[in-house]
Amino acid sequence: IFPDYDKMSKWMAHYIVHKIKKANPTSDRPYVLGLPTGSSPVGTYKELVKLYNDGKVSFRNVITFNMDEYVGLPEDHPQSYHYFMWDNLFRHIDIPQEQINIPDGNAPDLQQECWNYEEKIKEAGGIDLFLGGIGEDGHIAFNEPGSSLSSRTRLKTLTYDTRVTNARFFDGDVDRVPKTALTVGVGTVMDAGEVAILVKGIKKARAMRMMIEEGVNHMWTSSMLQLHPHGMVLCDEEATMEL
Ligand code: GLP
Repeated sequence: IFPDYDKMSKWMAHYIVHKIKKANPTSDRPYVLGLPTGSSPVGTYKELVKLYNDGKVSFRNVITFNMDEYVGLPEDHPQSYHYFMWDNLFRHIDIPQEQINIPDGNAPDLQQECWNYEEKIKEAGGIDLFLGGIGEDGHIAFNEPGSSLSSRTRLKTLTYDTRVTNARFFDGDVDRVPKTALTVGVGTVMDAGEVAILVKGIKKARAMRMMIEEGVNHMWTSSMLQLHPHGMVLCDEEATMEL
C-alpha cells in the first residue's frame, strides 16, 4: 500500500528495471513483459521512460505482450490499445518493433490470431512478469465476470458495464465503444512467473476486496491471483477503503 499513486508507479517502474537488468546480459533469453493499458499503468510507463532517458535501462533485450485489444478499431485510432502503447511507452524507448506484441483486433481470422498469440508467448519462453490493472467489476485484461479461470487468449464480448465505464474515452458515447475485444485468458496471466496488479482510487475499492479477501470466484476473475505463487498487488490508500 502506497501513500499515493506517484509513489506506487515509481516503485513499480524501479522493480521492472531491476528485473530487466538482472536478466541481462547474463541470461541468454530476453526478459518477457506482459503489459496492460488503462489509466492505472500510465504513471509506471512515465517513470520507465524517465529511467530510460536517464540511461538507467535499455529495452533492447525485452519482449512485450499486451493483454488485450478492441476488435475493429483501426490501430491508429486514439482509443486503440496499439495507439495507447506507442503513445505512452514504445515510441519513447529503444525496444525493437519486432519484439512488441499486441493482439490484432483487425485480423481476418480472430480465432487464429488468438491461437497464434498463445504460440508466440510460448516461443518467447513464457512471460516473466505480467503487469495488470483491474476493472471496477474485478476483471483482469478483458476477462469479464463469468470467464473461465483457466481461459486462454480469445475473443470476448464486453459487458455493458465495462462499455459504460470505458465510454469516457469515446466522448461519453457508449455506442462508440467496441462490443468485443481480444484478450489473454486468466490462465495466460496465471502462467507468468510473476504477476503485479496496479490498483488506484476509491472506485476500485470493492473490486480490491473481492480480489483479495473473498473467495476465488469466476465472477471476479482477478481473484484467481490468490492462487498465484508470485502475485502482488500494489495500490494507493483509497483503493484499500473496503478492506
Ligand atoms: C480495461 C482494460 C483492463 C484495465 C481496465 C481498468 O478494461 N482492458 O486491462 O485493467 O480497463 O482500467 P483503468 O486502469 O483505467 O481503471
